[in-house]
Amino acid sequence: AKQPIIIQGPMPIEAENFAKRLKNVKEEKSGNFVFYKGTLNNYPVIVTKTGKGMENTAAATAIAIEKYKPAAIINQGTSGGHDPSLNVFDIVLGKRTVNLGSLKTPHKESNEGIHPTSWIPMDLMASEGSAGEDPNAEKARYFEGDAKLLKAAHAVKDKYTKGKVVEGTIGSADVWNNEVDRIKWFHENFGTSVEEMEGASAAQISKAYNVPFLGIRVLSNNKTNGGQYDPTTAAANQDYVFEVVKQYISMK
Ligand code: 5AD
Repeated sequence: AKQPIIIQGPMPIEAENFAKRLKNVKEEKSGNFVFYKGTLNNYPVIVTKTGKGMENTAAATAIAIEKYKPAAIINQGTSGGHDPSLNVFDIVLGKRTVNLGSLKTPHKESNEGIHPTSWIPMDLMASEGSAGEDPNAEKARYFEGDAKLLKAAHAVKDKYTKGKVVEGTIGSADVWNNEVDRIKWFHENFGTSVEEMEGASAAQISKAYNVPFLGIRVLSNNKTNGGQYDPTTAAANQDYVFEVVKQYISMK
């Protein structure tokens, strides 16, 4: 049997538009996760509604890999801009994905305060020893987007007319940043193009099982240039990702 392609979306508005476009859909549930198993051009595709955040996404990814043995995983949905040159409706292809919640603080004594801009990126995958003590862990861990998925995404770029499609760095954490200086700090120190709450989690688990992975995120808001939140970006992104999946299937 053909190995399915998995398309993850956190919220109903980020999964259901895609699920509706599959044929022969059967719904399966596991915990809070909904798997819409169907076909696209006779190829098996499974849309997962993961729920929001890193924990839901990690679990939904591991369960999907164990249950369905996918050929590839795409994590997609909305995001907030970190790059002022990107506008609401632009799409970022995750050349890299990074966990923005993996941080170590420098040592401070009682009453010396809290200094977020001095916090150090921390790589939990650097070794099996204590990340708090390991100087080699004082760096961000970037998960690479799969080259063939990126190729498929580039090949259908022109079919997306609501904004531009660019490669970039997707940053994830269970945090919604509204402080523009903090956003700028991530942009400068981690090279982030956008932030969301799932991509790095799905990328990390996909990597653990060597499943090809790509994050595809539309900007639904951008604090750095006044871009107001627009939830209709979620459906637009799924329309684009649908084209990417069709292209990927045709390249298989
Ligand atoms: N910051 C964090 N998450 C965001 N999301 C959209 N915009 C942002 C933002 N600026 C996405 C997350 C999560 C939900 C809150 O929307 O991925 O699923």
